[in-house]
Amino acid sequence: MPLTKQDVIAKSIDYWNPHKTKLWQELGIDLVIGHREGYYIHDMDGQRYLDCHINGGTYSLGHRNPELIAALQNALTHEDAGNHHFPSPARALLAEKLALNTPGDLCYSVFTTSGSEAVDVAIKTARNITGKRKIISVEKCFHGHTGYALEVGDERFVQLFMAGDQPDRYQKVPFNDLIALETVLSKGDVAAFIVETIPATFGFLMPEPGYLQEVRRITEKYGVVYIADEVQTGLMRSGQLWCFENHNIVPDIVVTGKGFGGGLYPIAATIISEKCAGWLKEDGFGHVSTYGGSELGCRVALTVLDICTRPEIQTKIVQTAKYIRLGLDVLLESYPDFFSSVRQKGLIMGLVFNHPRGAILVMRELYKNGVWAIFSSYDPSVLQFKPGILWDKNLCDKFLDRFATSLFNIQKNIKK
Ligand SMILES: Cc1ncc(COP(=O)(O)O)c(C=O)c1O
Repeated sequence: MPLTKQDVIAKSIDYWNPHKTKLWQELGIDLVIGHREGYYIHDMDGQRYLDCHINGGTYSLGHRNPELIAALQNALTHEDAGNHHFPSPARALLAEKLALNTPGDLCYSVFTTSGSEAVDVAIKTARNITGKRKIISVEKCFHGHTGYALEVGDERFVQLFMAGDQPDRYQKVPFNDLIALETVLSKGDVAAFIVETIPATFGFLMPEPGYLQEVRRITEKYGVVYIADEVQTGLMRSGQLWCFENHNIVPDIVVTGKGFGGGLYPIAATIISEKCAGWLKEDGFGHVSTYGGSELGCRVALTVLDICTRPEIQTKIVQTAKYIRLGLDVLLESYPDFFSSVRQKGLIMGLVFNHPRGAILVMRELYKNGVWAIFSSYDPSVLQFKPGILWDKNLCDKFLDRFATSLFNIQKNIKK
């Protein structure tokens, strides 16, 4: 007997993750994904949803993208994960492609299985090159849940696992606050400042004009490594391969993940500048990861980069971003009491509502209308809205139409 959706939910409560499974049911999201194709996911019960969260960018090129499947299938005819200790054609080609498509002297890539692990590598690298331990991050940041990545993140999870037991090693400053940053960096004991170019989990706060240029200047002034977490903002989502490129700066280390494996194979990367590459030349065993840089994952990631760097893709992203914005602007005017603003850079968008849990209300209403998008965990007034980079006009219209219906229904219920 095939499993029913209710079987899956029950088994997930019994054997997988009781809290998370129950929480989704309480929030009115009973999704168990069955079939998935392109930008649609289908619930096991058959309901179809336009995926407007794409798992933080994982499915930026769509679910089960045919070109990526072909790359993986082709690799499977003659390759496997490979042996992480040896050079391999797939790894060498991918590392070269990243270096050629990333500005400045960002020229070495360490491959990992997840974005969190790649953040850990970035932090290890910064400590190795500076001989200092302290890492500065921004308040309400999210960089993943492995060791160091967890420790630089929000207190909620640091406390859950009794991490961060040496608090002098970590400190947070508000995003966009240059005075706070310089005050901390000027003490001279800091290895790195890690920051997302646009912090996603805190609701896509936009860097103020000049902020990231100043971050670059100050970090350089105090010999602090600038780690740009581009796990969500990279891979063309902003209209540039790396979002920091919109600010004409070059960080010391860049982290990518999520869409890098096209939603098919877990692979992430830490791209390291010549200046920071000390351990890669002295003791290359400083980070080992059996499946990190699996040759199968490398073949998928090579194809992801091929697609993302096609000139027509960049043009398409600019057009799609503009088209959606025109539609959103109309809705901003129609629902000014509730829908208050749009934070946007290319196809990275946060929809801001005038209600502390507004994005949870919208998420539920969109779900009823066949759209999946999620609130920002650290600011539930902001909906994470992430159109895929291959969206056509038809998908834009579908979203705008369903979003308009959702806003109308929410307004009606608020008035009741
Ligand atoms: C900005 C950012 N950095 C790092 C990570 C960690 O990536 P992973 O879940 O692949 O470990 C995430 C995951 O959501 C992320 O959004």
